[in-house]
Amino acid sequence: MLIIETKVSSLSKDKEYIFLFMNSGNFWKKIIPLQRNPCTVERIYEEEIIRMSKVTVIGAGNVGATCANVLAFKEVADEVVVVDVKEGISEGKATDVMQTAQLLGFDTRLSGCTNDYTQTAGSDVVIITSGVPRKPGMTREELIGVNAGIVKAVVGEVLKHSPEVIFVVIANPMDTMTYLTLKAFGLSKGRVIGMGGALDSSRFKYYLSMALGCNANDVEGMVIGGHGDTTMIPLVSLATYKGIPVTKLLSKEKLDEVVQATMVGGATLTKMLGTSAWYAPGAAGAFVAEAILHDQKKVIPCSVALDGEYGESDICIGVPVVLGRKGIEKIVELDLNTSDKALFAKSAASVRATNEVLKEINVL
Ligand code: LAC
Repeated sequence: MLIIETKVSSLSKDKEYIFLFMNSGNFWKKIIPLQRNPCTVERIYEEEIIRMSKVTVIGAGNVGATCANVLAFKEVADEVVVVDVKEGISEGKATDVMQTAQLLGFDTRLSGCTNDYTQTAGSDVVIITSGVPRKPGMTREELIGVNAGIVKAVVGEVLKHSPEVIFVVIANPMDTMTYLTLKAFGLSKGRVIGMGGALDSSRFKYYLSMALGCNANDVEGMVIGGHGDTTMIPLVSLATYKGIPVTKLLSKEKLDEVVQATMVGGATLTKMLGTSAWYAPGAAGAFVAEAILHDQKKVIPCSVALDGEYGESDICIGVPVVLGRKGIEKIVELDLNTSDKALFAKSAASVRATNEVLKEINVL
C-alpha cells in the first residue's frame, strides 16, 4: 500500500500525530504517535490502521450549513460533505467554514458539491435537512406535500453510494419523514433516526433553566412523542435539577408555562425569524451524529420505529434510545404515568394521521 501524503498535525490539544494518507481508497487513514520511528511505518501500519469517518449533510440551507459547521468545529467526523441543489451554495458555505479551521483549530475536512451524490460515497452517517422550512403561522405537518418527494428522492440517491449508511432525519414533518425514509427503501429500523427529541429536550432544558435561574447543563429533562406543536410531551415528572425533581422547585403554573413554551418553541422562533430556527436544529443533528460515530451509548430521545414498545407499532415517534456505532442500539422503555401514557397514545394517533398522507400523495 502506497503512502501518498504525510503531515504533522494536532488531533487533540496535548498530543501530536503523523497522518499518513494511503491510496487504499479515500476512507482510511493511519495515525501514528509522533514519538514512533517513521522507519517502522509498515509494521505499525498493520497494527494501527483506523477508518476515517465521513458524514454527509444534505441541504446547505440554514439548518444544513449550521449542522455542517458544528460537525466540523467539534471534529465529529474526519470528513464532512454538504450537498445542495442550488449551484455553488454548498461549495461556498463549505469553503467559508474551512476558512475558520485555522482560527478555531479543527482538522475536519469539509467540502460542498452541487447535486453530485458520488461525492457522498462511503458515508457513515447522512443527515437530511433538505426541503422547505416553515413560515410563520404554518405547522410542520403542512410541509409534507413538498418535502416528502424531496426526501424520498434524496434517500434513493444516498443509498446508491452508501448502502450501509445510518440516516439522521431533520426535515419536517420530522416523524413522518423518518417513517418515509425507513419504509420507502425497506431499511432496518436501527439505521433511521429522527433528531426531534434531541432538539425538543434541549429546548425543554433551556426553558426549565430560565424558570429555575440555573445553568441548563445542570438540568435533566426529556421530551418524547411527536415533533409537533401539539404532539410533543415534555416529561415534567422525570425532570430534575441536580437530582431534585423540578416539581419540588417550581409551581404547577410555572411548569405548565415551561411545557407550553417548549411545545411551541419552534413556532415561537419561526414567528421571530420569519423562517424556521437553525442553530439548535443543526446542532441537534450533529449531536445525534456524534453519539453514533463516537459510539457514545448516550440515551437521547429520537424518532424511531416502534415494534410494540410504548404500545405502538408501524410508526416512528420520539422515545429515548441508546445511540452507538450501530445506530439505535436499544429502545429505553420508561415507566410513564397514566397521564403521559394517554398523551403518548394521542400523539401517536396524530403522527399516524400525518403518515397516512404519504399514501394519499403516492410517495409510499
Ligand atoms: C424546529 C424545526 C426545525 O423545531 O422543526 O425548529
